[in-house]
Amino acid sequence: MSEDDYDYLFKIVIIGDSSVGKSNLLSRFTNDEFNLESKKRIGVEFATKNIKIGDHVIKAQIWDTSGQERYRAITGAYYRGAFDITRPSSFQNIEHWLKELRDHSDEKISLMLVGNKVDLAESRAVSTEEAKEYATDSEMLFFETSALDATNVDAAFKTVFERIY
Ligand code: GTP
Repeated sequence: MSEDDYDYLFKIVIIGDSSVGKSNLLSRFTNDEFNLESKKRIGVEFATKNIKIGDHVIKAQIWDTSGQERYRAITGAYYRGAFDITRPSSFQNIEHWLKELRDHSDEKISLMLVGNKVDLAESRAVSTEEAKEYATDSEMLFFETSALDATNVDAAFKTVFERIY
């Protein structure tokens, strides 16, 4: 399948606190790669992957950006708010990310909440129930993932695409 051979282009932006695993969710999904060390980010970054849903090829363009450019460069995107299940502050800050998102976008936005690092079960500090309830109240889809062992990474992205499609 050629990279340019697709029927629809879907844009997804991953937002959330530093170190929750946004870059690794992106690299796990698009290249099946995981990096133990956080890499330095240079400006806006995105990766693409073509996937098949029904009879159509979807080109998924997934953005891992920082700062204001995420809102300027990208319109009509689907947003995923990620947090680290071992760090409650990263979960509490989702509220801040949602507010920032609403302040910067005038169109109706679609959202998914992602609790990452479920492989660190012994250090869990945000319960599945609490996160799920928050997601429901804020009309977000919800998934718990691990970029490290790949739990639910494909499933979470696929659910986003099926929702848009
Ligand atoms: P910023 O670039 O600072 O915004 O961080 P980020 O959200 O992109 O996080 P990144 O993907 O760089 O991951 C931060 C750290 O958490 C790295 O050391 C990763 O190896 C680690 N990490 C990411 N995902 C997981 C996971 O699912 N499980 C575990 N155990 N560690 C993870």
